[in-house]
Formats: sequence, C-alpha cells, structure tokens
Amino acid sequence: MRLSVNPLVSGASWLYIWLFRGTPVLVQILFWGYISALYPRLSLGIPLGPQFVHFTANSVISPFVAGMLALGLNEGAYMAEIVRAGIISVEEGQTEAAQSLGMTRLQTMRRIVLPQAMRVIVPPTGNETISMLKTTSLVSVIAVTDLLYSVQLIYAVNYRTIPLLIVASIWYLIVTTLLSFGQYYLERYFGRGTARELPPTPLQRLRRSLSIRHGYYQITSIGPMVKAEAVHKRFGRLEVLKGVSLEVQPGEVVCMIGASGSGKSTFLRCINHLERIDAGRLWVDGRLVGYRQSGDKLYELRDAEVCRERSEIGMVFQRFNLFGHMTALENVIEAPIRVRKLRKRDAVAQGRSLLEQVGLADKIDNYPAQLSGGQQQRVAIARALAMKPKLMLFDEPTSALDPELVGEVLDVMKGLALDFQTTMIVVTHEMGFAREAADRVLMMDDGRIIEEGTPEHFFTAPREERTKQFLSAIL
Ligand SMILES: Nc1ncnc2c1ncn2[C@@H]1O[C@H](COP(=O)(O)OP(=O)(O)O)[C@@H](O)[C@H]1O
Ligand SMILES: [Mg+2]
Repeated sequence: MRLSVNPLVSGASWLYIWLFRGTPVLVQILFWGYISALYPRLSLGIPLGPQFVHFTANSVISPFVAGMLALGLNEGAYMAEIVRAGIISVEEGQTEAAQSLGMTRLQTMRRIVLPQAMRVIVPPTGNETISMLKTTSLVSVIAVTDLLYSVQLIYAVNYRTIPLLIVASIWYLIVTTLLSFGQYYLERYFGRGTARELPPTPLQRLRRSLSIRHGYYQITSIGPMVKAEAVHKRFGRLEVLKGVSLEVQPGEVVCMIGASGSGKSTFLRCINHLERIDAGRLWVDGRLVGYRQSGDKLYELRDAEVCRERSEIGMVFQRFNLFGHMTALENVIEAPIRVRKLRKRDAVAQGRSLLEQVGLADKIDNYPAQLSGGQQQRVAIARALAMKPKLMLFDEPTSALDPELVGEVLDVMKGLALDFQTTMIVVTHEMGFAREAADRVLMMDDGRIIEEGTPEHFFTAPREERTKQFLSAIL
C-alpha cells in the first residue's frame, strides 16, 4: 500500500509503518494494556449520537488480546516492508507487459508482480515468523501474569509513568524516523537504474497532483487507425519528441527507422499511454489516447478506461517481457481470461491455436527460461495477438536475438502483415523485412520524422543527408 498511487492510501500506510515500527514493542503492549485501565467502558456507536454496544474494556482487551494486538500490529508494520521489498524487486518490464495487455493495476499486482515477488518475500518472512513466535512466548509470560498487574500497579500508584512512557516513545520515534529517512534515500540510491523513472518523492507527487493540465481540442473525423498531431514528450529537461505528426491507415504496415536515442520507443510507448505526452494530440481509432473530452477541457481517463484502450493495442518489446512464472500457454491465456473475461476453455483453445500459428505447438508447457530468445519472442507475439488487437506495436522485436533466430520472428510478423492485414507500427532496422512487408518507412531523427516514403524510396533515393548516413551504416 505504501506503493499505491493514491496519496491518501500510501500516506496512511506510511503513518502506520512509521508509528508501529518506530516505537518500542513494550510500549505498545503497555499501551493496549493501559487502554483497558484508562477506559474501563468501551462503546460502539456514533460520537455524541446513539450508542449501539457497551462493554467493559477488560472483557474485550484482556492481557492476552492486548499482547496479540500489540504484537500483531507491530509485526504487520514489519511485514509490510518485507512485502514492499519483494514488489520492488520485480523487473519493470513485467508491469509494462501486463499494462500493455490492458490489465488493471490490481490485476497486474495480484497475477504478475506478487507471485514473482514471493521469492524475495518468503525467506525474511520465515525469519520474522520465527522471531515473532519467540516474542510471543515472552509476552505470554509477562503479559498474563505480570503485565496487567504491573500496569494496574503503576496506574494506581503513579500517574506520571504514562507521560514518562510517552516521552520515551517520542524519543524512539525521532531516532527511528531519522533512520527511516536514511533508508528512503539509500533505497533511492541503490534503486537507481532499475526503473525507467525514479518514482516521485512524496513532495513531487503532491505538486504533480495539484497541477493537472487542461487543454483544448477539436473532434476530428474518424478514419485513420493512428493519428498523431505535433506530439511532444520531455523527460525532465530533455525533449525527446519534438512534434511528431503521423497518420496510419487501417491495415497499413509502417516501419520506423532511426538512430538509437532518436525517440522511437518513446513514441510507441506514447501510443498506448505507457508514457504521457506533454503537448499535441494522439488518437487511436478515432479515440483520444488517455484523455476524455468534456466541453472543451481534457480530463485524464481513469485507470480502468486507460486499461480498456490499451487492451486493444498489442505491444511486443525488445526484451520479450514474458511473465517468468507462467508457461507459454499461461502467458497467452492470462489477459484474455482476466481482461476479456473469456471462459478458460475458450482461451486455452485460442491460445493453443495461436502458439501453433507461431510454430510453437510443442512448447506450450515450457516456461520462458526453457525457451530460446526467438521462441520467447514468438510467444510474446502470440500473447499480444490473443487480445485481438486492432493495432500492433513492435519495438525492435528482433534486435535482442541471435542472428540465426531473427528469421523465425520476422516470418511470423510477415504473416501478420501480409495474410492477416494487421495494422502494424514496427520499429526495426531489418530492411529486408521493410522491403517485403512495409507500406511505408519513416525515418526518425532527434525527436522528429525527417523523411518518409516507400521502402523502395529508401533503398534507391533517400533525400536527407542524415538518412543516407544512417542507411549506409545499417545496410
Ligand atoms: N524514462 C526516461 N527518463 C529519461 N530519459 C529517457 C527516458 N526514456 C528515454 N529517455 C531518453 O529519451 C531518448 C529517446 O529514447 P528512446 O525513445 O528509447 O530512443 P530509441 O528507441 O529511438 O532508441 C534517449 O535520449 C533516452 O535517453
Ligand atoms: Mg528503442
């Protein structure tokens, strides 16, 4: 929950962890013990209004319950951190792949991230459980016999003990708070490079939520599958897309080439809203990506609506991003079942035939680690196709593959382009593929499309100097 995007939820869980991790267990036990002494009668109801239930505190918060409450809440705070450690250990590509299939945040967490986080969660949990068992024995000895006795003794004899305890706790809180800050920055330091972007600090998040931008746009006629109008995207001070405009018609296959760092991946990621654009407009199939219009204002769509849009756009990544804890078939049927609500039987039948189509009929029960790179990428293509997307995005699908495995993946993609008339945007430097399958080639340079034409045009008469340079380097 500390990782939640909702500032209220993450704030509350942060407070809980801060308080219960930061104060001595003994104080917590005493506190719960005291409650029964301080408030002999508890009631459940509306403040100042009718009260529904009355009971005496001692009957509810017995020493045993006090001990359990204290240890449980205390332990919960520790466990929360262990679970968080597991979650941040899961590679970011896994989340991206799940999102690109249209899975909601909750589904992604439950089905993809947590199962893989368990590897990291289980060992320290074992430790915690054992040490908790040991502590319980302590409490059972103290609490049942001495604790309540001493609490009542202290309470009866000396009221000043309570302030003393509170002062002690505050000191503990101060010290542990400082330590927590240290931990926070250590985590950020060692977490550098694990994510595309460091998560915002709480302060940045607050600032961001206060500055939701609104803009204006006109409805355009429905027609092209993808339409981009002066799309701008910046990462901090670096402007990565400097006004990209493009139309892709249904059934068209567009190849995008360009030097590394020119913004090709970023543009693809904008198309399915894995990245938010800073200016310009982007439509897929006549619908504005990631936003909704009301009057002439734009509002960002809710998670569920963004997921629905994404589920209609397939994406294949350079590094496959197959779900490591699922077999080939499970990878393919996951999103149809969870997102499209297909019956399992139908999803399996469809999954089998898709895997057959990409030439993997005999590998359906293999885990990704048991497949070659080319086979993994073909599973990834089948996984995207299982959602019956109206648009497929390929981000250098063959550049992580050994040369002899490139052909098998390109063959599958050619089949899609030529036999199934799928609308595709393919970032690739395989000019052979472009020549055979592409309707159009775009050259991207420094955040702009600087030249476009048929594959023939690029082979015979590229216009721009930059294009000539680039082509002579890759051909
Ligand atoms: N999350 C990010 N934070 C900061 N800079 C980024 C991020 N993602 C990409 N970039 C930068 O944006 C530029 C374009 O990246 P990318 O779209 O991946 O290029 P390409 O796919 O054409 O190689 C690069 O200079 C890269 O360093
Ligand atoms: Mg790239």
